[in-house]
Amino acid sequence: MKVTVVGAGNVGATCADVLASREIANEIVLLDIKEGFAEGKALDIWQTAPINLYDSRVIGSTSDYEKTKDSDVVVITSGLPRKPGMSRDDLIATNAGIVKIVTENIVKYSPDAIIIVVSNPLDVMTYCAFLNAKTDPNKVFGMAGVLDTARYRAFLATELNVSPKDIQAVLMGGHGDTMVPLPRYTTVAGIPVTELISEEKLNEIIERTKFGGGEIVKLLGTSAWYAPGAAAAQMVEAIVRDQKRIFPVCAWLQGEYGLNNIYLGVPVVLGKKGIERIIELDLNEAEKTLLNESAEAVKGVMEVLDNMIATA
Ligand code: NAI
Ligand code: 2OP
Repeated sequence: MKVTVVGAGNVGATCADVLASREIANEIVLLDIKEGFAEGKALDIWQTAPINLYDSRVIGSTSDYEKTKDSDVVVITSGLPRKPGMSRDDLIATNAGIVKIVTENIVKYSPDAIIIVVSNPLDVMTYCAFLNAKTDPNKVFGMAGVLDTARYRAFLATELNVSPKDIQAVLMGGHGDTMVPLPRYTTVAGIPVTELISEEKLNEIIERTKFGGGEIVKLLGTSAWYAPGAAAAQMVEAIVRDQKRIFPVCAWLQGEYGLNNIYLGVPVVLGKKGIERIIELDLNEAEKTLLNESAEAVKGVMEVLDNMIATA
């Protein structure tokens, strides 16, 4: 299996490192626009192979898409973080330009690749990749839910002093403060979480999860990379190993949850065909309201991109 990771920055390099060290793919290409950057990161990762004992090959490339030819899966992490003085619309315009060029190059050399978008703003960048890939939406989707759910599970594991392995949860909606963690679908080794934690504490954890990205930015001055890189690699693994894992994924909705023509986080089955099935949960009225509010927020950002394209 061949996997390309575009963007050799913090998230991209971490993702490539996890893919290699866990031998998720035997050929990994790391590509960046910055001269020599991807080659340097790839060489450094490859030099951990004799230490960490794996034989996945990692190569780097400066904008040479020929090297990405026939990739089975491509992870797009290229994009700028928001800088002081930059409006949300400026960020959308800049990153949409990057995601567009990257996607066009990817499909030129790997028309059958499954594309996982990581660049922010996530839901709209996934939409942007879909518009430019001109392929089956089940093969173009975004990573956010695996990360957001991991944050939620990690906070719960700390609070309950149990293994994070035993915490299962579903989180839906957009990647931002309108995301919808679902306590009704959160269990600890099969026990409903509501039996183990007070409502007040659970609500605190839900609020912390919604702002989990910002918490790290405040601490580090830049956004997270270990968990995002590992989350993207876990999605790649589900695809290349055809695991049929159930993850919250930013997926194209066509009537599911009463929503149409929108990229939004929902639980899906991931396997070798990409999104093999969207799982429709029977949400109660309160949950539906939260999901619809999140969908409205995401639609608003998608419209910003649509207007940019229409006036270009
Ligand atoms: P970074 O700045 O460390 O890396 C981004 C890389 O993209 C840079 O090396 C840059 O040279 C490269 N790049 C820019 N334009 C390119 C192009 N046209 N072609 C190829 N490479 C190009 O940033 P980091 O921390 O790795 O984050 C990457 C993106 O992922 C950001 O948009 C960030 O907001 C997003 N992110 C999303 C998360 C999610 O849950 N979906 C979580 C964490 C980050
Ligand atoms: C995160 O959630 C900023 O999307 C990035 O860490």
